[in-house]
Amino acid sequence: MGNISDYIEVDPFSDNPLTADEVNLLVNREEVRKRIGDLIHSASHGFPQNIAILGEDGIGKTSMINFIEAKMKLYNGLFFSRINLAEGTESRTMVKSLIGNLLNQLDLGLGSKVLYHLKLGKKVSREEMLKRLKGIEITQNKQLKESLFNILSYSQAVTEKKASPEDFYEILEMLREVLELMGRKPKAIIILIDEGQYVARSHSVDLLQQMRLIFQKKPYMLVVGGSPDLFSRFGQVEPTFNNLFPEQNRLRLTPLEYQHVKELLEKRLGLVRKKGSGIDPFETECIERLLHLSDGNPRYVIRIASESLQHGRDQNSITTREIERASSLIVREMGRDRFDRLNEDEREIILTLARHGSLSITDIQKNSDSNYDLSTFGRKVRTLSDRGYLLVKIRGNKRICHLKRAIYKYAKELVQFA
Ligand SMILES: Nc1ncnc2c1ncn2[C@@H]1O[C@H](COP(=O)(O)OP(=O)(O)OP(=O)(O)O)[C@@H](O)[C@H]1O
Ligand SMILES: [Mg+2]
Repeated sequence: MGNISDYIEVDPFSDNPLTADEVNLLVNREEVRKRIGDLIHSASHGFPQNIAILGEDGIGKTSMINFIEAKMKLYNGLFFSRINLAEGTESRTMVKSLIGNLLNQLDLGLGSKVLYHLKLGKKVSREEMLKRLKGIEITQNKQLKESLFNILSYSQAVTEKKASPEDFYEILEMLREVLELMGRKPKAIIILIDEGQYVARSHSVDLLQQMRLIFQKKPYMLVVGGSPDLFSRFGQVEPTFNNLFPEQNRLRLTPLEYQHVKELLEKRLGLVRKKGSGIDPFETECIERLLHLSDGNPRYVIRIASESLQHGRDQNSITTREIERASSLIVREMGRDRFDRLNEDEREIILTLARHGSLSITDIQKNSDSNYDLSTFGRKVRTLSDRGYLLVKIRGNKRICHLKRAIYKYAKELVQFA
């Protein structure tokens, strides 16, 4: 038997969000996709509803939002704007993205031309703007020109300060008017927001709050991808926000199970393999190990598979040994990344658990250095569990917490060296 590298020349386990044309690589998302399909279909008939895509980091939120975006493009009456939140995202970026995206969907290039003026940052006269729009056919309509100019002036004023909820609403209404003037009455205007987990955690509450007026009115629709504790974070700032998302539209992405890990390997390998089939070059036992070591998180599955494939490429198969080795390398590193994203209180809970193994919430409180009351601990533990750091199991009348693998490995080292 030859080496793996004889029939697999490239590593298919690249860790990037799946794009619109990689939908066939998604595993374990049939139900969510079906639900999303139905909701988009309703939106295209003028019945938009807000949707949240929730899950721990690496579970596939961005991939799913890419899928939604692709799906929406298939309908004529749907317009959308995509905003990827990052640490530095400000309301002016959001305003620009709304204008750029929506106008470009009306006429390619239109949004970019209007944005050009906004980027210049100085007041633009009606004449200057009209000159720039000259080449674009649709802007020969007089009323439309006027509307575009209004959008620009308003946005200019807004981008100089922090946009208020009314500002966002006003700008969107103006954009809607433009769409209608062009005979393109939108069935729904969809704002896709990818919270870019953790980077934007505290920040995104603030930004979403500024957009809140929009999501209570037809034809606007919000699709937000975020951390599983999104609603509890919002609930604390804006109690009414959660009412805008019916429970059945809060789609929680679940971890992979055995057959999904198998399918993931098969699908990715199928793209590059010259001979063979199924999951080879991975030995069958690898699936069980991968599932166990990754806690079913697709990002971990992919990274471990990638590392073990590269390491074992001169062998004739990948065994659980390579999987274990790759996992200890990757999982520890990922544990560090995840640990670094926590605040002090959260780290304290994680370290207490790493020191003592599984504990009930009462015992976490007893063993911890902080002096919060029990219910505060309960809430913090719950958030950590939502975010995929630990598991809470009910045993008798107690709730027992265990750290998930990656974070445990890293935190254990920290307490050992301390
Ligand atoms: N259902 C799935 N089936 C197969 N692969 C998946 C699936 N979901 C995600 N992936 C893969 O897992 C990795 C993480 O996906 P993605 O970036 O979409 O996750 P995320 O939840 O947006 O992560 P983050 O929280 O870091 O933003 C990517 O490599 C992606 O290709
Ligand atoms: Mg993401």
